[in-house]
Amino acid sequence: MAQSSDTMKIQVEEISSLNGTLILPCFEGCEKPPSKTMNDADRLTRTLIKKILSSEDFTGKSEETMNVFGGENKAVIVGLGKKEKLTTKIARDTGAKLLAKLNKKHGKTLTLRFSSDWKLDAMNAFVEGMLLRDYKYDKYLSKSDDDENDDSPYNLHIQCTPKNVKSLNDLCEESQNIATGVHLARDLGNAPPNDLYPMAYANMAKDWAKGKKNVSLTVIDWEGILENKMGGLENVGKGSSRKPCMVIFEINKPAKGKGNPPIIVGKGITFDTGGISLKPGASMDEMKYDMHGSATVFGLMQALHSNGHSEHIIGISCMAENMPSANAYRPGDVITTYSGKTIEVLNTDAEGRNVLADGLWKSGEFNPKFIIDLATLTGACVVALGHEASGLWSNNDELLEKIRAMGAHVDELAWPMPLLPAFEKEMTGSKIADVRNLGTTRWGGSNTAAAFLKQFVPKMSDDKDAEQYPWAHLDIAGTAWGASTNATVAHGATGVHVRTLYHLIKNDK
Ligand code: BES
Ligand code: MN
Ligand code: ZN
Repeated sequence: MAQSSDTMKIQVEEISSLNGTLILPCFEGCEKPPSKTMNDADRLTRTLIKKILSSEDFTGKSEETMNVFGGENKAVIVGLGKKEKLTTKIARDTGAKLLAKLNKKHGKTLTLRFSSDWKLDAMNAFVEGMLLRDYKYDKYLSKSDDDENDDSPYNLHIQCTPKNVKSLNDLCEESQNIATGVHLARDLGNAPPNDLYPMAYANMAKDWAKGKKNVSLTVIDWEGILENKMGGLENVGKGSSRKPCMVIFEINKPAKGKGNPPIIVGKGITFDTGGISLKPGASMDEMKYDMHGSATVFGLMQALHSNGHSEHIIGISCMAENMPSANAYRPGDVITTYSGKTIEVLNTDAEGRNVLADGLWKSGEFNPKFIIDLATLTGACVVALGHEASGLWSNNDELLEKIRAMGAHVDELAWPMPLLPAFEKEMTGSKIADVRNLGTTRWGGSNTAAAFLKQFVPKMSDDKDAEQYPWAHLDIAGTAWGASTNATVAHGATGVHVRTLYHLIKNDK
């Protein structure tokens, strides 16, 4: 689980005493320390910083950092580029990169001083970058006694002008809670598949929900899957000795009625071998991340709950392990999903869509406001967008635009992709079943996958011509891990879209 006792301690205060190492963010062209930022620093450190800022040695360009060691206090000057060009992305990335550069010599107590030039959202983004990057997955590493690293948490004093203290404190506390959700999602994504199998996820969810009064957790286990005829989950999961399950998180369920909750559905393939349509060996280990959709669902629940979210919200994780075995489903099989629709299985490696078919259909029982699914669904999406953006499809332009805009705002890009009738036609063109799980050619593979999912989006009423609930699909195959350009992550799982969805749901009134 998230190593919560190890998380950074933060406090926001006005510029006062200087504790530990001074972190001084400076804009390009800053030739002397901004007012008050030298308070309480020893004379040598002040002199050194003044000299450095007035010289050519430090220009304040972004990416530039300089250690100022020698005095009683230590300091790090951090360049942010031109003040007029500062964005929350630059602030966040700079905070993250700064954290990555800190080492034992800087110690664990830091005083981060923002001059009066800084606006609230930029200060918060800088701190958020530090919080997000302050993460290691070292659960499985043996610790030696002479370990060079000090694993104790940072103690961060954030200092700003008096008028901003209260607001910045609220923002930073919220960011820190969100970061616990992002880190939880990363822990789940990084977990090895021998230990994180479907029911292990379900048990972690149960432990998480325990004692939380406004959370109810339902696990539909193997028997439940058979009883409910959830044929997508059943068939994908039956080849494994670790049986599949559906995990439903519900926060703030109303006392009466169904409510009208946003529902987030996650693909949770704890390991994807491809099944009988076995994947090639190279990089197969990365398929432990194939449950990142469900990791984001869980992390999002943590981010919302820890921030005291008071509205109704549901998360549904579709958990299975895709293995080849004597009990595995095969290419050629026709399976019946929870919706009653049948799928012609042409490739057992296109398994994510089969389990999501059941999760999406389940959403229809809760009168959803909208449904968003997240899935490491296709290699084709990585071909299209690389590691820079998730693919975004939707049957509703307004929902699509909200997700796109919020993704851009928090720097978790979601790129609009086409949900064309031709792709739907392709996927519903099977001669022997309602839907086929493979396109007719290999082209546009992430679009045909989205078109497949759309066939399982529930309608708003039983009427034949009723409209579907607003639904969006995020293909996170390229963004769930492996983005070398993502400054907030060292390596491994990213926790992608916990922040996008947190802010989307919080602001969706
Ligand atoms: N989990 C994979 C998709 C994937 C591949 C994500 C590589 C990230 C990196 C998914 O289950 C899968 O195998 N998809 C197939 C679909 C194909 C058989 C239609 C794919 O992308 O090759
Ligand atoms: Mn697969
Ligand atoms: Zn998969």
